[in-house]
Amino acid sequence: MASSKLEILQQKIAEAQLGGGEERIEKQHQQGKLTARERIHFLLDAGSFEEIGMLVTHRSSDFGLDQQQYYGDGVVTGYGTVHGRLVYVFSQDFTVFGGSLSETHAEKICKIMDLAMKVGAPVIGLNDSGGARIQEGVVSLAGYADIFYRNVMASGVIPQISAIMGPCAGGAVYSPAMTDFILMVEKTSYMFVTGPNVVKTVTNETVTSEELGGAFTHATKSGVTHFTAANDLDCIKKVKQLLSYLPQNCEETTPKLPYVLGDEIREGLEHIIPESANHPYDMRAIIGGVVDENSFFEVHKDYAENIVVGFARLAGRSIGIVANQPISLAGVLDVDSSKKGARFTRFCDCFNIPLLVLVDVPGFLPGTDQEWNGIIMNGAKLLYALSEATVPKVTVITRKAYGGAYDVMNSKHIGADMNFAFPSAEIAVMGAKGASEIIFKKEIMTADNPAAKLAEKEAEYAEKFANPYRAAQRGFIDEVIEPKHTRRKLIKAFAALESKVQHLPKKKHGNIPL
Ligand code: HXC
Repeated sequence: MASSKLEILQQKIAEAQLGGGEERIEKQHQQGKLTARERIHFLLDAGSFEEIGMLVTHRSSDFGLDQQQYYGDGVVTGYGTVHGRLVYVFSQDFTVFGGSLSETHAEKICKIMDLAMKVGAPVIGLNDSGGARIQEGVVSLAGYADIFYRNVMASGVIPQISAIMGPCAGGAVYSPAMTDFILMVEKTSYMFVTGPNVVKTVTNETVTSEELGGAFTHATKSGVTHFTAANDLDCIKKVKQLLSYLPQNCEETTPKLPYVLGDEIREGLEHIIPESANHPYDMRAIIGGVVDENSFFEVHKDYAENIVVGFARLAGRSIGIVANQPISLAGVLDVDSSKKGARFTRFCDCFNIPLLVLVDVPGFLPGTDQEWNGIIMNGAKLLYALSEATVPKVTVITRKAYGGAYDVMNSKHIGADMNFAFPSAEIAVMGAKGASEIIFKKEIMTADNPAAKLAEKEAEYAEKFANPYRAAQRGFIDEVIEPKHTRRKLIKAFAALESKVQHLPKKKHGNIPL
């Protein structure tokens, strides 16, 4: 009797392992995709996975569903460790009803989200789902809403990461949208609210799945995905890398790797900024020279490239970086870069990750396109996010800090704790040429040689304002530093700020201009 009970259990486990069956697993592999279980296997430390709800089945009978029962009901859920730290995970199984979300499938995901919230551990969703299970009707919609609600409650409490590893449609894209980070696998994953067929019917547009919602589209046009990956394994590798910068929850400080301090002087930083203020340079070179070697992990790399954001380590401690990028649109702030910078800033602030802001910004991008697309409200998002952030905030102005963008980019006035500037910094209302053309207009127009007069006035203005010293006299800049000393200064500044505590005025919550 005992052995037959054991046999029954073993048979059920074997069935659960098979998902929708061998043929469908084979199809998954042919498409270059791993199965739900293989993905978990590669994500978690060897032998650490504990499955929850393996024998759950759906409760539906409509449309012949009672004849199609699969253990696990299209999602593998449980917990394990990544680099020794606890995570909760769900992995949708496309071989079972296209990974679609039934009432019970949703319950399984909610169960691990609830556990993750109780213990304060990240949730990782490996998504591969056709959305609400169509045969189930409203109970599958209810299941989605239960997950959405938990996504919102968990936001800012525990990190939530969504890997999109197959075609995700309908509700399957809204839960990831409310998590902190999205990664998409190139060529095999899609995200759309409605697929190409519905688009054709409603708007008469002809578009492929790839064009509508592929990894490239969401990495460059919509900004929906923060990362793209060449394949499933690369995606999982990136999830693990991302986790290494994050605390387990909002009560923890960031992870710190062991680091022995040296002289920390980096001569290479002296040679990055060009002589001419109008020549571009790659801000990533400054970042690379400042942070621990090869530690910069860029987020949203291909979207709004005029701002660079990402995680790095400084003397072993994880930090977040927001930096203008002079090689793209001269580093100007526009609608998309403001949104990108604001969202990243808020993530770092949620999870106690100190912020380094590197500034080389000629201002906000002018034009009807920007004004009509709401540069006022969107620029305000970045201003709001940086003002509101209470984590340690340090600024380095490398070159231009013009106009309102000076205020926005973590100026002393909006709460930065330490503000440094290079000798090449220009802190002014605008560039010397534009400023002279306005304030010396009459003098220039009436001069015998207007061009020479403009040059003379430009030089006069530049001498007064195209430097960091006026701002330093006022205390808006704490110290003008040589570039080669930046890393040393930042290590000291962040160490001194490690115990920073700042409370915002008591309120229910602020009203960021969304
Ligand atoms: C039930 C589904 C399903 C679903 C796919 N399947 N989606 N079953 N409910 N939502 C099943 C298919 O019937 C098929 O079963 C198997 O999964 C594989 O699907 P295919 O279509 O063969 O795969 P593929 O060609 O790769 O296309 C994948 C897909 C497509 C793009 C996801 O299946 C699709 O468009 N599905 C419907 C998407 C959708 O409209 N979902 C509902 C959205 S409403 P068999 O047995 O034939 O292999 C929603 C509401 C939430 O989500 C609201 C939130 C705000």
